Amino acid sequence: MTGIEELLLSRIRDVADYPEPGVMFKDITPLLADPAAFTALTDALAEISVRSGATKIVGLEARGFILGAPVAVRAGLGFIPVRKAGKLPGATLGQTYDLEYGSAEIEVHAEDLSADDRVMVVDDVLATGGTAEASLQLIRRAGARVAGVAVLMELGFLGGRARLEPSLDGAPLEAL
Ligand code: PRP
Repeated sequence: MTGIEELLLSRIRDVADYPEPGVMFKDITPLLADPAAFTALTDALAEISVRSGATKIVGLEARGFILGAPVAVRAGLGFIPVRKAGKLPGATLGQTYDLEYGSAEIEVHAEDLSADDRVMVVDDVLATGGTAEASLQLIRRAGARVAGVAVLMELGFLGGRARLEPSLDGAPLEAL
């Protein structure tokens, strides 16, 4: 394990039985409260974004906002929020995706992305991959290209990487 991996892992707190029994929640608030760890994370995600040739950073509500906004500033790129349905005031594109029980919808302002954009999606966790997959569909429907997906952590046992692969279409999925 590299130094940064050790640092980041040491600042993620496992919370048992949250939000429901049997789930081990990965709490990133200790990492956010540690300026050295938060800076290292921001720098690493910004480096991935710049290397990919991204022109915009998309952050996924809500923890993807906390990580994606400083990454965008550090990388010198614009930040575009992908929000849960009903939160954006302008003309939106929406994408629904399946949850374990039921479905959810995310939206982006249609005018925020164009054919000139290559978009890096930033989030804290890749779990089943449903949220990230829907965001890639939104980006493509807005006419933009996908530069990749960059996350702090990937819960490999949930199979998100395999689910995301077709939507990535060769773009990288990087998990720190
Ligand atoms: C979490 C997490 C990712 C998503 C990953 O967000 O921050 O966005 O779930 O899960 P998936 O890969 O199975 O789609 P959540 O929907 O809990 O929203 P929050 O950040 O607003 O709490």
